[in-house]
Amino acid sequence: MNAIDPAIHIAAANIRLDGVTKSYGAMTVIPKLDVEFRAGEFTVVLGPSGCGKSTLMQMIAGLERVSGGKIIIGDQEVQDLEPRERGCAMVFQNYALYPHMTAFDNIAYSLKIAGLSKAERRVRVDIVAKMLGLTDYLDRKPGQLSGGQRQRVAIGRAIVREPAVLLFDEPLSNLDAQLRHDTRIELAELHRRIGATTVFVTHDQVEAMTLADRILILNKGEIEQYDTPKAIYHKPASIFVAKFIGSPPMNILAVSGDGAVLRLSDGQAIAECHLKGDFQLGIRPEDVVLDKSSTATALRAHVRYREDLGSHSILAADLSGTVVRLTTPFGSPPPDSNVLLLSCPPQRLHLFDAVTGKAIDGAFSARKKDRK
Ligand SMILES: Nc1ncnc2c1ncn2[C@@H]1O[C@H](COP(=O)(O)OP(=O)(O)OP(=O)(O)O)[C@@H](O)[C@H]1O
Ligand SMILES: [Mg+2]
Repeated sequence: MNAIDPAIHIAAANIRLDGVTKSYGAMTVIPKLDVEFRAGEFTVVLGPSGCGKSTLMQMIAGLERVSGGKIIIGDQEVQDLEPRERGCAMVFQNYALYPHMTAFDNIAYSLKIAGLSKAERRVRVDIVAKMLGLTDYLDRKPGQLSGGQRQRVAIGRAIVREPAVLLFDEPLSNLDAQLRHDTRIELAELHRRIGATTVFVTHDQVEAMTLADRILILNKGEIEQYDTPKAIYHKPASIFVAKFIGSPPMNILAVSGDGAVLRLSDGQAIAECHLKGDFQLGIRPEDVVLDKSSTATALRAHVRYREDLGSHSILAADLSGTVVRLTTPFGSPPPDSNVLLLSCPPQRLHLFDAVTGKAIDGAFSARKKDRK
C-alpha cells in the first residue's frame, strides 16, 4: 500500500474466517469456510445468486450470527460481538439514507452517536466530503441528490468512522453504466488513499477484474478459487471459474486422449497430450486462431453467426457439435466461406477433469518436457 492519505488513514486489519458455517434451519448455506482477507487488500467476492455472498458479509459485519466457527478481525475474535464492536462498516445495494437529514448529517450521524463534538464532526465530514467530491452537496437532503451522489454519501457515512474493515455488498448495482464506471474508478482511488481492508461483493466481472487485489469465487458457499485477477483469468482452477470470468466465456469442448493426442468427438485432433481418458478442454475466445494458411492440422468449423461489437467482432462456429466463439479484430472481413479453419495454440489450452471439472496442471507442458 502506498500514498495513503494522511488525513484519513485507516488502520487496516486482516479478517480470518476459521471453519465458519451457516445454516438456516435444515438448509446449509455455508458448509465450512476457511479464508483470510489480508490487511489492506481489496478482495472481490463473486459467485452465482444464492451462493452465500451476502450471508458471508453479514456474518463478518455481525448482522447474522455464524452457526459455527470463528471470525477473527485483527487479533480479536468477533463472532460473538455486537456489530458496532467489530470495527466494520458496510455499504449495501439499498443504502438507505435518512431522508429528512442533510448529506452532512447523514455522514456525521455515527460520529454524533459516538459523542464527537460538533467541531470534530465538521472536520471529519469535511475531509470525507472532499475525498468523495461532495463538498458542494452537504446541505442537500437525499431527495435532492443524484443516485451517484447518494451512493457517495453512503460510502462517506461508512468511512467517516475510519473502520478497519469496509464491506460493500453490490454497492453500484443501482447506478447506470456511466455512473457505475465513474464510481468504480473513485472506489479504487479511495481504497488506494485510505488503505482499509475491503471486501466487495459484485456480479460484475469488470468490477472484479479492475478493483480486486484478490478475487474470491464462491460456489454453494464453498471456495472455488481465491487468487489474483490475473491467476483467476489465466489459470482458472475449475470449469466453474473458467466460465464465470471472461466475456464471452471460455469455450469448453469434450475431448478424449489416447496418450498422444487429444481428439474432439468427431475425431479431429486438437492438441498433443500425454494423458489418456475423457476430459474437458477450455480455450478463451481471444485465443482461438483463424488459420488462414490452411495447415493440415487446422480444425474445421462451420460458421453459425457473427456479432459486430464495434471494437471487435465475435464469430460463433460449430466445432464438432459445440458452438465455439472467437474474437476477431474490428474491421476484419467476414469469412469468405461457411467453413472456418481454426487452430488452438497449446500454451493457451486448459484441461479439466471430465467428472470433477477441476483443472489438470501440466497437461501440455509435460509433453514438452518429454520431447526434450
Ligand atoms: N434469513 C434467511 N433465512 C433463510 N434463508 C436465507 C436467509 N438469508 C439468506 N437465505 C438463503 O441463503 C442462501 C444464500 O443467500 P445470500 O443472500 O447470501 O446469497 P447471495 O450470494 O448474496 O445472492 P445474490 O447474488 O442473489 O445477492 C440463499 O439460498 C438464500 O435464500
Ligand atoms: Mg446478495
